[in-house]
Amino acid sequence: MCGIIGHVGQRESLPILMAGLRRLEYRGYDSAGVAVLNAGQLGVVKAVGKIKSLERSLQGQEIAGSIGIAHTRWATHGEPSVTNAHPHLDSDNEIALVHNGVIENYRTLKEFLSRSGIKFVSDTDTEVLTKLVKYHYTDSLTDAVRIALGQVEGTYGIAVVSSKHPETLVAARKGSPLVIGLGDDENFVASDVSAMIEHTNRVLYLEDGEIAEITPNDYRIITIENIPTDKAVEEVNWTLDEIEKQGYDHFMLKEIYEQPSTIRAAIRGRINLEEGIARLNGLNLQYDELRRIKRVIITACGTSWHSALIGEYMIEELARIPVEVEYASEFRYRSPVFDDHTLLLAISQSGETADTLAAMREARKHGVTSLGIVNVVGSTIARESDGGVYTHAGPEIGVASTKAFTSQVMVLSMIAILLGRMRNVSVQQGQELIGLMRQLPDQIEAILKTDDKIQEIAKAYHHHDNFLYLGRGINFPAALEGALKLKEISYIHAEGYPAAEMKHGPIALIDEKMPVVVIALKDPVYDKVMSNIEQVKARNGNVIAIASEGDTEIADKVNHVIYVPRTHRLLTPILSVLPLQLLAYHIAVMRGCNVDQPRNLAKSVTVE
Ligand code: F6R
Repeated sequence: MCGIIGHVGQRESLPILMAGLRRLEYRGYDSAGVAVLNAGQLGVVKAVGKIKSLERSLQGQEIAGSIGIAHTRWATHGEPSVTNAHPHLDSDNEIALVHNGVIENYRTLKEFLSRSGIKFVSDTDTEVLTKLVKYHYTDSLTDAVRIALGQVEGTYGIAVVSSKHPETLVAARKGSPLVIGLGDDENFVASDVSAMIEHTNRVLYLEDGEIAEITPNDYRIITIENIPTDKAVEEVNWTLDEIEKQGYDHFMLKEIYEQPSTIRAAIRGRINLEEGIARLNGLNLQYDELRRIKRVIITACGTSWHSALIGEYMIEELARIPVEVEYASEFRYRSPVFDDHTLLLAISQSGETADTLAAMREARKHGVTSLGIVNVVGSTIARESDGGVYTHAGPEIGVASTKAFTSQVMVLSMIAILLGRMRNVSVQQGQELIGLMRQLPDQIEAILKTDDKIQEIAKAYHHHDNFLYLGRGINFPAALEGALKLKEISYIHAEGYPAAEMKHGPIALIDEKMPVVVIALKDPVYDKVMSNIEQVKARNGNVIAIASEGDTEIADKVNHVIYVPRTHRLLTPILSVLPLQLLAYHIAVMRGCNVDQPRNLAKSVTVE
């Protein structure tokens, strides 16, 4: 959700900022802009659309200089336009500011500034903040930012430069992530490590309420109350390769194909076959504490919420602990009932989703042990939780989540085994599950080899405007996830339903124009799902079935079959979702959609 990059050093800033923006584009892509300080003047260029438009607008412009800030936007206040794009300037063009987040009291602040005769040109909350900084400016940019932020309600990650301070970049955070990168004779600030990883892997994560004053060779961090704070420098162990397409047409396809290795990474060093148990030291919970848990709440949004639903099946079945799965956005505004024996799991790829973070904070406020299942190392949920498990899927750049989902499910299966082994699950049962978990990467490879067939199916159906996805039991959430993948990247209307629920309403939609994707694996509900398929066929529906390898009888009953290898029933969603990811991908490509950057979406939703 919006990307920020800032640079101060000896080198030219513009190429660094533009390269950073290209890496951040997946976080927002409706407009972009850059401000570089050159010979005492702020050179600002902005454009509507993707970074390519900004590159075009920059052609022929002289904006040399070694300090600057840049932004790629996902509009919240005001439509995407050059005027609303960041950086914003004060009326004298002295201060430039980029902002992620939402200033909730911007109307009040605007009225306050208007009374002093200050005029506004955009519809944004960010312009108000910029002019508020200028209003408070006397001789220190950092003080002006600090005093202005003292008046602000809402969330922000900001980077600010001023023509009066040619060597100082000021950054501040509340609710919107910011990372400082330390280079040689130059320093950076960004909303996301990927924007600066080609220059440095030494980073400092700003916390809420902190302000950083950054110069080419130094930095200083204070709180909004003006108290200096110390911070440990951390090393990020990503490589540049991980955030490049490496020959794939899209990041999404690359990330789908990475799943054999991301699943291996998720379980590496965490499963013990001999004892039939998972070892998750990051949970920070002793066995007796795990035994005392009587209720689990899992909270998340979007795809992560779908993995939570799968976790519910796993934990309830293996550990016999009641599990509630909550949309984080709803949970935070209810009055949830907590008790001493409740464990909260917050699942988030980015670790920055505003609703999930708020839900976790709410639980922690009530003394509930809260664990994160998070992909991005050092993210806010990872840092604020009482413990947790990293999914280790590596950077996910495609806006539609794929590899993060299967890794989350893997982590949930390990948590379920651990909680189960603390209760009724025997060593042998644990061993069986772990043995089968280890086969999953090879089984995923096998599914990926059927991609040609999936492409053919995509070709046959990519013109359709509606799809229904059906699944039962633990594969119902997989059906939801398949439908979400299709709708977000191809803009086809797709709904996921529990297969048997179809006859209570959605069956009215079925005709030859409504393809139905059914997950029909050989499990205890197979016969029931087959009768749901008959109901679809009887109404001229076209069925694409995801079936278990070796199921020969299904082929005659449906229009197309995609086979997946057999595994333990609880692990099947990790396999059944793969063809659904590929189907969505190919359909979207065939419809000419921008798969990695679907319209209206952005990675990491850090606003409410
Ligand atoms: C869908 C998708 C979103 C995210 C959701 C939560 O493909 O990516 O639905 O799953 O915004 O994001 P995280 O997991 O970062 O909290």
